[in-house]
Amino acid sequence: MNGVHAMLVHFPLAFWALATLMILAGVFLSGRFAELSRAGLLPVLVFSLLGAVAGLVSGWLVWPAEANLYSPLARNHILMAIWSLAIYSSITLLIWRFGALMFQGTQRWALVVLALAGGLLFAITGTLGGHLAGSPTHFSQLLAAFGWTVYETFYVPDAVLVALLLLAIIAAGVGLTAKTGDKG
Ligand code: HEM
Repeated sequence: MNGVHAMLVHFPLAFWALATLMILAGVFLSGRFAELSRAGLLPVLVFSLLGAVAGLVSGWLVWPAEANLYSPLARNHILMAIWSLAIYSSITLLIWRFGALMFQGTQRWALVVLALAGGLLFAITGTLGGHLAGSPTHFSQLLAAFGWTVYETFYVPDAVLVALLLLAIIAAGVGLTAKTGDKG
């Protein structure tokens, strides 16, 4: 099954990379290429989510669940895969619900931040997958330089979780009270 997982995960990774580039092009460029990027983004995102579901399901079939959850490296890989899926699902919902509006005004910055965060997370997911398959890369050394040894379980201190929750509540409050027609 590891061959199937290795093959299937290229779909979400490629679609997420493409979606991230399309968002950056749609926000920062003008002209035909930017227009096409904005218009074609939703189908690319939908395909990325389908690919991610295939990656997640096949991932659980590579090793027994006990082995997956016993290894800190595999736990980190699963955590980052789920975070990546959460971020690109949020982007998909926003583009599906608000479409071209997301490329205007202040909301376009939310899209850029989400796309860059998603890009970082899926890069880490793939890097850790490579580690599991026996092909570590220099990217892990970069993560180590920022204080995270990928062989140890990644955890977020409780204080950071509380800060994230507060930020989410504030962001939801700002979002609910903001005018959706803002051209900022
Ligand atoms: C969107 C979700 C996922 C992505 C993008 C992803 C990505 C990857 C990549 C790029 C590799 C390296 C493949 C290779 O070069 O051979 C890999 C390997 C691996 N992944 Fe995932 N993965 C995902 C989800 C999961 C999940 C949910 C699990 C476990 C529950 C998992 C378990 C593994 C294992 C055990 C390996 C090592 C396979 C081997 O020994 O060859 N993955 N993954």
